Amino acid sequence: MNKVKQFTKKGKVADYIPALSLANPADVAVSIYDGTNTCFSEGNHNQLFTLQSISKVLTLALALMDHGEEVVFSKVGMEPTGDPFNSISKLESQIPSKPLNPMINAGALAVTSLIKGSSNEEKLSRLLDFVRELSGNRSIQFNKEVAQSEFETADLNRALSYFMKQHGVISGDVDELLDLYTKQCAIEVNCEDLAKIGYALAHQGEHPNDKYSIIPSEIARLVKTFMVTCGMYNASGEFAIRVGIPAKSGVSGGVVGAVPGNIGIGIYGPALDDKGNSIAGMKLLELLSSRYQLSIF
Ligand code: DON
Repeated sequence: MNKVKQFTKKGKVADYIPALSLANPADVAVSIYDGTNTCFSEGNHNQLFTLQSISKVLTLALALMDHGEEVVFSKVGMEPTGDPFNSISKLESQIPSKPLNPMINAGALAVTSLIKGSSNEEKLSRLLDFVRELSGNRSIQFNKEVAQSEFETADLNRALSYFMKQHGVISGDVDELLDLYTKQCAIEVNCEDLAKIGYALAHQGEHPNDKYSIIPSEIARLVKTFMVTCGMYNASGEFAIRVGIPAKSGVSGGVVGAVPGNIGIGIYGPALDDKGNSIAGMKLLELLSSRYQLSIF
């Protein structure tokens, strides 16, 4: 931990969502879960933070469980972009204009629009129950201030949504979709919750303590593959080479890692690098991977 703490000084806390700028850039924490009911943790692992883009992995799994591959991949592709997560450029140049993958904002918005439920309350409550089950933590909630702060400043995501609505990728009210999307991004966890979610994904969708199946193994496999190809935004290629662990980051500074058949890793470090990944978190994962030979390649 001491080896990576210094890197926090080189990063910057996300401030395009005003509520995220309140995080302490010096924070770094890690939890590792191996299925034995206790997490190994270092740093402030009780610190709560919001899932942000890590939620994209979970909504993808839920949408696939709700509708199956054919429906989901008629709305969103499977290819990495090499562009920043909020880029609009490929939407316009791509024919048909469906988003390239579910880990960029456009793709995640399309996936969120597929979650089953008769109202946003029901959809959010299904998603929260899913996250609670995967982490084994029944008390998980979403942070209202962070959700509201993003909702008020989400004009780029609104633009992406209107573009997709015009092109028939999504239907329905855009602000309703933004309401659900910003709440999903504001779901609050700590490192231990993330490590357990990582463990569930690493173990074909099994409950982290009770070992029954939550996510069908084929969907868990598919989700981990997206984590490898697109999980760390446009740094996914370098991350695969340096770390080689299926992982997904969020602009709050969280990272979930799922070492197939092995451990789940939860990281928090809100100081971000220029691609939007936790700067100390990336370093920590690199060290862990090399010391314990965790790369899947
Ligand atoms: O849509 C947004 O801008 C945020 N709620 C999530 C962004 C994030 O974590 C990075 N996305 N890949």
